[in-house]
Amino acid sequence: MAKLKSKYTCQSCGYSSVRWSGKCPECNNWNSMTEELITHEKDIRERKNSKSILKVNENNFKALSDISSINESRTKTHITELDRVLGGGIVDGSVILIGGDPGIGKSTLMLQLAEKIGDKKILYVSGEESASQIKLRADRLNFNLSNFFILSETNLDIIQAVIERERPEIVVVDSIQTVYRSEIESAPGTVSQLRESTALLMNLAKSDNFSVFIVGHITKEGMIAGPKVLEHMVDVVLQFEGERTHSFRILRGIKNRFGSTNEIGIFEMTEAGLKEVLNPSDVFLSQRNYGASGCVISASMEGTRPVLIEVQGLVSSSNYGIPQRTSMGFDYKKLNIIVAVLEKKLGLFLNKYDIFLNIAGGIKIDEPAIDLAVAMSIYSSLKDIPVDSETVILGEVGLSGEVRTISYAERRITEAEKLGFRKIIIPKGNLKNLNLKKFKIKVEGVGKIKEASELII
Ligand code: TYD
Ligand code: MG
Repeated sequence: MAKLKSKYTCQSCGYSSVRWSGKCPECNNWNSMTEELITHEKDIRERKNSKSILKVNENNFKALSDISSINESRTKTHITELDRVLGGGIVDGSVILIGGDPGIGKSTLMLQLAEKIGDKKILYVSGEESASQIKLRADRLNFNLSNFFILSETNLDIIQAVIERERPEIVVVDSIQTVYRSEIESAPGTVSQLRESTALLMNLAKSDNFSVFIVGHITKEGMIAGPKVLEHMVDVVLQFEGERTHSFRILRGIKNRFGSTNEIGIFEMTEAGLKEVLNPSDVFLSQRNYGASGCVISASMEGTRPVLIEVQGLVSSSNYGIPQRTSMGFDYKKLNIIVAVLEKKLGLFLNKYDIFLNIAGGIKIDEPAIDLAVAMSIYSSLKDIPVDSETVILGEVGLSGEVRTISYAERRITEAEKLGFRKIIIPKGNLKNLNLKKFKIKVEGVGKIKEASELII
């Protein structure tokens, strides 16, 4: 087969060269040169001459009102958390990219999907593990399927031939970084291989109407397959996140052509594979330490679900000249801002103390609504007086010490009530939009960080 020629094009200014360089000579950007295939002038001329390219297919040109609506057909995976993130199941013929750090549980999730989905014919293409290794894992997960086929192959031409022969309904490619097209000279895992391999799988999926899960490792920069080349091509992008040292895993929708990206799925990695976490609040609060200073309960929105979490603050005398600030699961800069606000507005002297902050359970919270809980946990630890364990605290902290309104207040309050909390402190600004009679839980509004500190201690 003729080798295709490639060139290197700068992704920021468009400069191209036959040789790769780390820095673009034109715009001086680093790491922006990526490999692209060259289409030969001759090929283009040939295609133009054949005229087929110029013919408009009248079927493709229609007024919107003339197009009949179809209900997209979806296959339920029967993994509730995955179905939720997908927007109600796998849309037939869709291409789903699932990214995550190595070892986070992508292959495990794909195997469990195969088990749960039932009678569909599934082809699992594995470039990373041998068939017997997969069998071992399946034994560990305790399942045995007759319509689940394993192909240990990395050459996409062969994979294509098998797909065309076997006609599976679902194909899993684990991982896209290991497969390659022989027409392209560069090694598996490079940009052009990734892009061309994904394009081939997409064309196959659309023409034969099967769904594809493409597993991709996240690179050090935190992007799926280095540059985001694949994200715009596929229909759905899911990201599997979590700390390897903790058992919780979060499946997040980053892009979804068939649903919202607001949803997340929560799993726990156990001895017997991934277990769905249907009631996250219960889990994150399961190891609570009642009556300890520095521990404050707050409610964070994970997708459209409120999840109660425990914020743990520890303030201890500093042994060095420069006090330490450590934050796990919460933005470090935001922690510094909150410390500064506490110093200024509550008159605390925190520069003699080290401050450690942790969100229990190893999840990351990227939401301003827990600011006030962070502030109160630091305050509680400094004073060494516990915050009432039946109280939930919510609110964004502004630079002048004001407590700003938060979103989804009602849902968060309902969740706190459901879990048996007796009191919730929320921003004053949220009160006017709430019908307080609806709640059995005591709701108190605060306008300033100072008011909150007086309420809790
Ligand atoms: P894996 O699915 O291989 O990760 P990925 O495909 O994302 O690289 O998961 C690997 C980790 O999961 C491994 O460290 C062991 C752990 N694990 C369990 O804890 N329990 C199980 O039942 C299985 C199958 C894996
Ligand atoms: Mg794997």
